[in-house]
Amino acid sequence: MQSFDNPFSVPTFSLAEPGPDQRWSTWFATMPTQRGPRPFPDWLVTSSAAFDTELGIVKTGKEADVHLIERAVPGDATRSSILAAKRYRGPETSDFHRSSQYQEGRRMRNTRDSRAVARGSAYGRGVTAGLWANAEFEALCRAFELGIPVPYPVQISGTEILMEFIGSGMQAAPRLAQTRPTPAELDGYWQQVLGILHAFALAGFAHGDLSPYNLLVHEGRVVVIDLPQIVEVVSNPNGMTLLQRDCTNVCDWFVRRGLDCDADEVFGTLIGDLF
Ligand SMILES: Nc1ncnc2c1ncn2[C@@H]1O[C@H](COP(=O)(O)OP(=O)(O)O)[C@@H](O)[C@H]1O
Ligand SMILES: [Mg+2]
Repeated sequence: MQSFDNPFSVPTFSLAEPGPDQRWSTWFATMPTQRGPRPFPDWLVTSSAAFDTELGIVKTGKEADVHLIERAVPGDATRSSILAAKRYRGPETSDFHRSSQYQEGRRMRNTRDSRAVARGSAYGRGVTAGLWANAEFEALCRAFELGIPVPYPVQISGTEILMEFIGSGMQAAPRLAQTRPTPAELDGYWQQVLGILHAFALAGFAHGDLSPYNLLVHEGRVVVIDLPQIVEVVSNPNGMTLLQRDCTNVCDWFVRRGLDCDADEVFGTLIGDLF
């Protein structure tokens, strides 16, 4: 039997190298500014011995694909976290529909980058993917710090964002649009969505693409995702229009499900939050 008092006994390490669907955890390759808000949640694996294992695709999209990843220390079942990796498309396959209306007022690193983006060259499309990833990571961090229910933003590396996976096991939580709530659940979800709208507005923001497809429902909790196009309502010339559209998109869904709510009324109260 092994004696735990023996000063010469050493822990056993796995000498494994990452397999074909694995890489070393990218945590140590990121700078502090590329990591999520402190304190880091205790479920997050930050060990330098961890591997990232690709578990599959959650959803492919026009501008980004969301993959499922396990970050775990080989041989240590107690240290494992399931993450969502949102990867913006680089030069090879990008197809950005998000229009410049969101970007007014956002600055680019240098004129070479802005010219490349304007020309739509391969290099320019890569820059655009990085800009969207950065914008989304920043927005997630800000929302998280405001207490808005978003997936915890773990880190950003180039065009890849790692965040908390919202779901059970490997099963992603359904989008609000896919749920069939009872009247009581519907009312509960609506109160949470109102809370999200108000929290953004009180901080001066609109989500900019809020809809029942960008709200996940997990264990009765509504979580908002897909934030790269967040806008400052007052400084962005399209801010008011986008805020109103957010209200309409969510209210329409709740009205169709039988709830009595009015988009214009909600919009009015949000304007009150802004000033
Ligand atoms: N953190 C997450 N946890 C679980 N599922 C997620 C997460 N982020 C995204 N998804 C899934 O991936 C889909 C696409 O993500 P989203 O950020 O909305 O990108 P897109 O720009 O393609 O709409 C979502 O509708 C949701 O089903
Ligand atoms: Mg989306």
